[in-house]
Amino acid sequence: MNYYNIYKLIKSEDLNHHGTLFAGRMAEWFVESCFISAANEYKHPENLVCVKIHELNFNTPVRKGDIINIQSKICLAGKTSLTVYGKVLRGDEDTILVDGYLTFVCIDENGNKMNHNIVLDEPNSNESLKIVAKAKSLKK
Ligand SMILES: CC(C)(COP(=O)(O)OP(=O)(O)OC[C@H]1O[C@@H](n2cnc3c(N)ncnc32)[C@H](O)[C@@H]1OP(=O)(O)O)[C@@H](O)C(=O)NCCC(=O)NCCS
Repeated sequence: MNYYNIYKLIKSEDLNHHGTLFAGRMAEWFVESCFISAANEYKHPENLVCVKIHELNFNTPVRKGDIINIQSKICLAGKTSLTVYGKVLRGDEDTILVDGYLTFVCIDENGNKMNHNIVLDEPNSNESLKIVAKAKSLKK
């Protein structure tokens, strides 16, 4: 599965009092990106809810004028849950500015969990193996 990409230009209204990207703004974009990744795969966005933002690691400051790429993809499919890994890059640089994991649960019209029946391909790179191992360690 490929990463889903969202691009954002960092503007004045996105900054905190230090003049760097405000964490709350990043969190909103990050959750949205991860949600769309899960929804693209499950096809019924109305049946997906977020149960946990496991991590959001801010590794490097993001500044006004930066164009960032928020990438996300499902890394773990349980019975009713989908865990998504997201990472944020600047332009085509490799440095991971921000990364983290979110878990969504598939629910029916009454709000009860239900099986999603999604089966993922086996991880096929060292990066994917590490991401999946970490996602498994986050499972409740
Ligand atoms: C989604 C909800 C119905 C699940 O309730 P539940 O029946 O008690 O769920 P369970 O504890 O049995 O967990 C269901 C799945 O989620 C996983 N899960 C639940 N909490 C988790 C957590 N904190 N971390 C990781 N995985 C978690 C479980 O491992 C399980 O996965 P699996 O079926 O793939 O093995 C309920 O938590 C809920 O309604 N939450 C509110 C959601 C919401 O409003 N979100 C905000 C807006 S999107």
